[in-house]
Amino acid sequence: MKTYNITTLNEFIIRRQADFPYAKGELSRLISHIGIAAKIVNKKVKKAGLVDLLGEAGNVNVQGEDQQKMDIFADEVFVSALQASGEVCGIATEENQEIITFDDNLSKDAKYIFLMDPLDGSSNIDVNVSIGTIFSIFRRVSKVGHKAKNEDFVQVGTQMVAAGYVLYGSSTMLVYTTGKGVNGFTLDPTIGEFCLSHSDMRTTEYGSIYSINEGNYAKFPEGVKKYIKYCQEIDPEGDRPYKSRYIGSLVADFHRNLLKGGIFLYPPSPSALEGKLRLTYECNPIAFIAEQAGGKASDGKNRILDIKPDSPHQRVPFYVGSRSMVDKLEDMISESEEN
Ligand code: AHG
Ligand code: MN
Ligand code: MN
Repeated sequence: MKTYNITTLNEFIIRRQADFPYAKGELSRLISHIGIAAKIVNKKVKKAGLVDLLGEAGNVNVQGEDQQKMDIFADEVFVSALQASGEVCGIATEENQEIITFDDNLSKDAKYIFLMDPLDGSSNIDVNVSIGTIFSIFRRVSKVGHKAKNEDFVQVGTQMVAAGYVLYGSSTMLVYTTGKGVNGFTLDPTIGEFCLSHSDMRTTEYGSIYSINEGNYAKFPEGVKKYIKYCQEIDPEGDRPYKSRYIGSLVADFHRNLLKGGIFLYPPSPSALEGKLRLTYECNPIAFIAEQAGGKASDGKNRILDIKPDSPHQRVPFYVGSRSMVDKLEDMISESEEN
């Protein structure tokens, strides 16, 4: 008889719970609900072109950007799946200026808080390009039994308990870490299960891809400009020029670089001194995964995970990927600032 050696996400979560001897299964249940929400969003994403879900919904989100209809749908699906899990007392989402605090008794007793970009790269939906969901999970610092408070959502990244992303690409993947390595699961649409496909993911020390919106070149800080020129230079050993690859969906750009080795850059500009990407639900989770896979994430000077957020919607310059590439960039930034 043919044997099947499949590890589903739920099977994996149960096995991993043994790594945390005092765990009561709350985080496991929470991650399992993320899997459910991801499957619901995935179904809609794959049907988007067919059911006229495309286009803008006519609202503007916290950052003043037009929301696509799918942003709102994904937001609602994750919020309701997380409330149903009973393991989350509050949520910060890109789609809401205010934090969401649950008022029911089950949720008030929950010990975790959740931060998310429910749909990342949403300008790519209309053109059938990969998009994603990004999330991070912290233990609350406010009292259990009460509603979550703002202080729960501005914790420093090193306090993160778990983080991950869902990539709705040519296949759909869930990649997450609880601080013991990174594992990736691919959705098998025939059985409707996320199956372990990338165990203990590692990124390379050196890479050969750089990913940046080069249209903004004139606005980049000097150190970043120098680094871009360095990426494009021919070197005698033949390691450069690097390949330039940019999708415009952080999840997809990061995922490719994680697997192949590379650096993703979103620098500040004179009109956006903090850059574009959000610390708590875009940069922090990606940084945690990068570090767990052997990579590095920085704002050009500081480790992303050491930055204390002022607000759940704070932006930060973001450089992430293969360790040596981020090191080199940091050197060039600090040299250019000394001169
Ligand atoms: P979102 O769709 O959640 O607003 O995020 C889009 C982000 C990110 O995915 C991507 O890396 C970046 O915006 C692209 O920005 P540019 O178009 O400025 O390159
Ligand atoms: Mn985003
Ligand atoms: Mn988004």
